[in-house]
Amino acid sequence: MPRIRAFAPVAAFLLALLLAAPALAQVEVEGPGAGEGGTVAPGLELPAPEAEPPAADVQLYMPEEDQLIGRLTIPNRSLATLVQPEGRTWRAFRMETLFWIAGIVILGTLAALAAFYFWRGTIRIDRGRSDRWVPRFNGLERFAHWTTALSFIALALTGLIVTFGRFLLIPLMGHDAFTATSEVSKNLHNFSSVPFVLGLVLMLALWIRDNLPTRADLVWLKHGGGMFSRNASFHPESGRFNAGQKGIFWAVVLGGIAMTVTGIMLMTPFYVTGVSGMQIAHVVHAILAALMIAMILGHIYIGTIGMEGAFDAMGKGEVDENWAIEHHRGWYEAQRDAGRQPAPGTRPAGAD
Ligand code: HEM
Repeated sequence: MPRIRAFAPVAAFLLALLLAAPALAQVEVEGPGAGEGGTVAPGLELPAPEAEPPAADVQLYMPEEDQLIGRLTIPNRSLATLVQPEGRTWRAFRMETLFWIAGIVILGTLAALAAFYFWRGTIRIDRGRSDRWVPRFNGLERFAHWTTALSFIALALTGLIVTFGRFLLIPLMGHDAFTATSEVSKNLHNFSSVPFVLGLVLMLALWIRDNLPTRADLVWLKHGGGMFSRNASFHPESGRFNAGQKGIFWAVVLGGIAMTVTGIMLMTPFYVTGVSGMQIAHVVHAILAALMIAMILGHIYIGTIGMEGAFDAMGKGEVDENWAIEHHRGWYEAQRDAGRQPAPGTRPAGAD
């Protein structure tokens, strides 16, 4: 018994050691090296992360003119822009503001034209058709007009697809079909700019003389061209083009030039300007496009359902004598004085 008593403390120590062994064999490690439960076997611990990252040997970027610019040894300096804070402002414009501006301008114009048509109806030729025809636009003039017009319509439709397709077309046709549609649209948009510019230059050369401002334009403008009077027989005096048409001519020419310049900047990234310049070019291009589309909608309205006899001018190149007298008396009289007499048409006299 005394022997057993002598071993009791040793046995208790050994037992305690046995129970504590597993706990001592594991070391608590937190952080990336820790496995599930936050422990790893001894010897496999990862070094604890340092409080501060080591200072970089090479400075990766430095703020410069509000941009974060890297250092490059290759010739393409534009790739050095790592972060461009203005990009966020531009993206907000592209994804939201533009949607509202263009939507309100274009849909607002369509609504206003519909309301105007409802109120005024088609502006008729007061005295009816005479069936005597006055030459108004020759073949070259009509070629210039329709080249510009058709390419503008292609530019407008493809531009709208590229800008709004993501919101409007993806829900209708799905991603795959939209990918193909937007790719075709973008190429068609770029290629349509060529005939548009050619038509624009031709129209400018052919019509600039007839679109210089005159005193009669002030009278025409003062009376709103007689458009807002329901008194059908009231037509303010005008030459070959009235003040409204002159406004459209100059808006098409100057707007077309601005669209062309900004379009070229966007088509040739980094050749003409950098990222910031392209963002400004895009904003100008997009807002002008919306305004021009709205204006041309008004032009198409008056050239078709808005005014009886107007389409003949660009469709067949001649206009009814009564239309010419009512809408462009000054020009009509100059034609007559120059010996360009109206020719009878093939329709029976008196037919509407
Ligand atoms: C389907 C589309 C179009 C139709 C039906 C149309 C119709 C007409 C008509 C009938 C005229 C002659 C007006 C007159 O004899 O006094 C005209 C002139 C003109 N058109 Fe168009 N046009 C269309 C598209 C365009 C487009 C897209 C542009 C330019 C982007 C344009 C620019 C002009 C210009 C500058 C004139 C001369 C000034 C004026 O009459 O306003 N047209 N158009």
